[in-house]
Amino acid sequence: MNGPVEPFKIKMIEHVGMPDEKRRKEAIQEAGYNTFLLKSEDVFIDLLTDSGTSAMSDNQWAGLMLGDEAYAGARNFYHLEKSIQDVLGFKYVVPTHQGRAAEHLMYSYLVQPEQLVPRNMYFTTSKVHVELPGGKMVDIIIDEAHDPENEHPFKGNVDLQKLQAFIDEYGVDKIAFVNVEMDVNMAGGQPISMENLRNLREFCDDYRLRIIFDATRSSENAYFIREREKGYESTPIIEILREMMSYSDGCIYSSKKDCLVNIGGFLATNEKDIFEHTRSMVVVYEGLHTYGGLAGRDLEALSRGLREGAEYNYLKYRINQVRHLGEMLMDVGVPIVKPIGGHAVFLNALKFLPHLPRNQWPAQTLAAAIYEDSAVRTMERGAVSKGRDKETGENIFPALELVRLTIPRRVYTNTHMEYTAKSIIRLYEKRDIIKGLKMIYEPKYLRFFQARFEKI
Ligand code: F0G
Repeated sequence: MNGPVEPFKIKMIEHVGMPDEKRRKEAIQEAGYNTFLLKSEDVFIDLLTDSGTSAMSDNQWAGLMLGDEAYAGARNFYHLEKSIQDVLGFKYVVPTHQGRAAEHLMYSYLVQPEQLVPRNMYFTTSKVHVELPGGKMVDIIIDEAHDPENEHPFKGNVDLQKLQAFIDEYGVDKIAFVNVEMDVNMAGGQPISMENLRNLREFCDDYRLRIIFDATRSSENAYFIREREKGYESTPIIEILREMMSYSDGCIYSSKKDCLVNIGGFLATNEKDIFEHTRSMVVVYEGLHTYGGLAGRDLEALSRGLREGAEYNYLKYRINQVRHLGEMLMDVGVPIVKPIGGHAVFLNALKFLPHLPRNQWPAQTLAAAIYEDSAVRTMERGAVSKGRDKETGENIFPALELVRLTIPRRVYTNTHMEYTAKSIIRLYEKRDIIKGLKMIYEPKYLRFFQARFEKI
């Protein structure tokens, strides 16, 4: 099968090196078998993340030259505000340096100690920003999302019965708000349907509960709605996005993904109290409310990128390049999460390395083995990422123990995808000889970033 044709041509290139086998072995050992701790110069193809790794367009680069670096009221802020109003339909905008800063401002305002935040699967930084003000994130995603083999077209959907059960058990006052992620990252880049969003809105209206979106990958989610949901086959992506957002009371957004920029984030809402509070707090943590920790030029690139990232032809290529990689693996039986997600292909490490017990960190082991084989950098998304139970201190072993091959946007060619697939297929053929890892250093917060391991 061939990859999708790229709707762009290449104007500038960046050289990458290919470390030999000896260097790859040394490099991953020096990194404590944690791909986050590898040096970028030791990496040939970097599939660690789709965050901040996009290639910008000539239009975005041209925008950088039009950065207005005034401390207050830079024109680029107003461009961004207009883009967000046009593409997402929110009136009020607070820029931040990246997504987690928006989470901090939003969640520290909305969460009181002991409150619950139901969400369609946790994300690492989101969970921490709910826990810091004393809250607890609880899972309300449909069961299908926890099963890598299940081919449900909208595995990101919220299970309203699970939400009802939390309300029945704890009372509605215990719920801070309902948090809904688009194109759910930890579930494998799986979308939520418009129908589900609509039903959730109705449900929450009955209880006067707020819904806050993590809209980080909402454009990719909108593409899946157009592809899979009846009635949206020819709806423009922006119309889909605006309808999606209309079911929320506001969103946080890491613009390092679908907005095709290397840095940036924001929160947006139509709720005056949320806006007024977060606008006053952004000044404490990020910078004045018209730049929020970003340079004027970054605001401009983001303003243009939000629009470009919502173009149908671009999204079609994007989603199909990820699918191309996934299909090459699936065709020869490599176990991956199905259906293939929006931003990444996820390997099912429990099936890839069934001989390893959970406490030998199969996904961490597999990510390290892939690097050693081909200098392709991937990421663990399983028990190391999930961390420990806040109350018992025990490791949590989630149903999904995955390795994420995250595809940066507009950066790699289909040949790069083929090189990656060959390496993984080669490893799969000799999977029996791959040995597990032991954790020898564990930081307190977000341990996956800095934990160190050694080979057993
Ligand atoms: N929400 C989601 C769904 C994310 O995927 C991320 C980041 C954030 C919030 C935080 O945003 O990084 O701009 O502060 N995800 C990156 C990843 C790190 O690799 O998945 P940020």
